[in-house]
Amino acid sequence: MRMSLATSLAALALALPAWGSPPPPAKAPEARKPSRSAAFDTPAPPFELGLFPCMGCHAEPGNPQKRELGFHDEVQPLQHGEGRWCLDCHDLKNRDVLHLTSGEPVPYAESYRLCGQCHGDKLRDWKVGVHGKRIGNWDGKKTYFLCVHCHNPHSPRFKGVDVLTVDGQLLQKPTATPTRPEPRPRRPEEAR
Ligand code: HEC
Ligand code: HEC
Ligand code: HEC
Ligand code: HEC
Repeated sequence: MRMSLATSLAALALALPAWGSPPPPAKAPEARKPSRSAAFDTPAPPFELGLFPCMGCHAEPGNPQKRELGFHDEVQPLQHGEGRWCLDCHDLKNRDVLHLTSGEPVPYAESYRLCGQCHGDKLRDWKVGVHGKRIGNWDGKKTYFLCVHCHNPHSPRFKGVDVLTVDGQLLQKPTATPTRPEPRPRRPEEAR
């Protein structure tokens, strides 16, 4: 695991100077991409399944019932603490955002705020650069990797990272987890 992290990070570091240059000119409609964080400069979220925007399928409010889903096999079964369910984090009515327990919507670019609700110590460490990873720019601006660039929110135990390119920008994502092999039928008692 450490090897694969080191290797990936080394590969990333080699390609990083590109990040020091000014951001590319904004492209026309950005509707297909989650926006960036307002509070911290974060790279794009590591979406990779081509499912964003979610509202393409979730225009109607979803089904709040906790159940085994016939779709989204890559995120099931959840391996994130006891008794967690999709809607602890995802919004029932607007699938293109996350939400805090207060109901306050949180854009994907600020998912660290969601994580920080239950992992306040880690969020504090992340903000000051003790946990996670920041990359300095030539002008002193810091880019913060999101928690989800290293932790799969559906199975967050750290397992290493792989390099990923989003719109030509070099990023990283958590390595494929044991929750993403060939989908197989699950027995009801496995659906928590
Ligand atoms: C291609 C269509 C499609 C897209 C795009 C899609 N979903 Fe879904 N999603 C489904 C279907 C179908 C179900 C219901 C499965 C079932 O009931 O067994 C579902 C269910 C869910 C649920 C469970 C709660 C509910 O409403 O039933 C969550 C949470 C969810 N999706 C999140 C997302 C998120 C987040 C995205 C965007 C990143 C997304 N989905 C994009 C098809 C889609
Ligand atoms: C602990 C909070 C949490 C829970 C619980 C959770 N998710 Fe997510 N999910 C997230 C976050 C955060 C992201 C955004 C990851 C990113 O930025 O790449 C996400 C991303 C997704 C995506 C898009 C993945 C991609 O790479 O395109 C889908 C689909 C999804 N979730 C569905 C679900 C479903 C279905 C459930 C319930 C079975 C669920 N999630 C439970 C936090 C959660
Ligand atoms: C609603 C509360 C809640 C939220 C929100 C939440 N977590 Fe967790 N998380 C937990 C619980 C509970 C555990 C299990 C704690 C334990 O086993 O010690 C856990 C465990 C973890 C672990 C350790 C996993 C392991 O097996 O070692 C990581 C890493 C983690 N979460 C990251 C995240 C990230 C990243 C986010 C945001 C996408 C997030 N969490 C959001 C409650 C939450
Ligand atoms: C650059 C990658 C990276 C980022 C970004 C990152 N983490 Fe981690 N995280 C790790 C690594 C590596 C570990 C340690 C894994 C180990 O030692 O087994 C870890 C461990 C954890 C643990 C379990 C620690 C424990 O004491 O059991 C939690 C919880 C956690 N991270 C939450 C977060 C949250 C919340 C964020 C965002 C605010 C975040 N992480 C951002 C790489 C990262």
